[in-house]
Amino acid sequence: MTPDNRTPWDFLASRKARNLLSNAASTGKVESSDGETRKLEAGLAEAECRFIHRMIRKNPIRHTLEVGCAHGVSTVTICDAIQNRQGSFHRAIDIEQSGHWRGIGAANVNRCGFRNFELLEEDSAHCLPRLAHKGETLDFALIDGWHSFDHALMDFFYINRMLKTGGILVFDDAANLSINKVIRYVEKYPCYEIIGHVPRRPWSRRRKIAHTGRLIAHSISRVLPRAVSENLMDAVVTDYNPQRENATLVAFRKTGEDKRDFWWCPHF
Ligand SMILES: C[S@@+](CC[C@H](N)C(=O)[O-])C[C@H]1O[C@@H](n2cnc3c(N)ncnc32)[C@H](O)[C@@H]1O
Repeated sequence: MTPDNRTPWDFLASRKARNLLSNAASTGKVESSDGETRKLEAGLAEAECRFIHRMIRKNPIRHTLEVGCAHGVSTVTICDAIQNRQGSFHRAIDIEQSGHWRGIGAANVNRCGFRNFELLEEDSAHCLPRLAHKGETLDFALIDGWHSFDHALMDFFYINRMLKTGGILVFDDAANLSINKVIRYVEKYPCYEIIGHVPRRPWSRRRKIAHTGRLIAHSISRVLPRAVSENLMDAVVTDYNPQRENATLVAFRKTGEDKRDFWWCPHF
C-alpha cells in the first residue's frame, strides 16, 4: 500500500496497464516479446507515475514526448493518461530500446493496446533537433535519458523549442547533481515556473548531512551582498531550495514565449 492507503497503480485507466505495471513493480520482473523474463532495471516509482498521470489528466495535453523509455514504465503511464483524447500521440526516444532493453518498453505499450505511440530508436542528440526542425509541437515532455549535465541540457534545449506555452516539462532524477543543475538553470528562465515535485522519502543520511550544510551556507550567503555571494558561491547555496534540491521529480510549466536576449546569463 502507498502511505495514504491508495491502491498502487489505481490511477491508471486501462486495466491492462494497471495489471502490467503493478505486476512489474511487485515482482521486479518484465517480459520480452519472445517470452524471456528480465529484471526490471529502471523505471519511475508508482508515486512519480501517479504525479505525471495527474498532471496530464488535469491539463489539455495531447502531444507528448519522453526521452528514455527503458522497460516502458513511464511510457505506459503517459500513454494511459492521454488515451481517449482526440488526436493524442506519444513519442518515446530511446537509443537502446532493442539493444539493452530488448524492446520490452515498446512491447509493454503494445500489450496494453495503446496504438497512438511511436518509438524512435535514436540518440536524442540527433532525434530532437530533427523533430524541432520539422516544426513539431508538444504539450508535455519528460526528460529521463542520458543524465550528464550537457546531455540533459541539450534535451531541454530542443524540447523548449517544441513545447507550447502552457505546456508541461518534467525532469526525473531531480536530486542527481547534473540534473539538479539543469533544473536550477531552467528555473531562471523567465518563461518557466515550477508547478510541482515529488518529494524524496526517506532521506538518506548523506542527503541529511548535505541539506544541513547547504542550509548553513545559504544563511551565510544571505548576509552577503548578492554580487559578492554570486561571485563566491554556487547557486546550489545562494538559491537553496530544499524541495527542488531533494525531489525525485520536478515539473515546470512554460508560461510564455522564450524571449531571452543575446546576453541572458543567469547565476545557476
Ligand atoms: C532511466 S531510463 C528511463 C526509464 C523510463 N523513463 C521509465 O520510467 O521506465 C534511461 C533511458 O534513457 C535511454 N537513453 C540514454 N541515453 C540516451 C540518448 N542519448 N538518447 C536516447 N535515449 C537515451 C536509455 O536507453 C534508457 O532507456
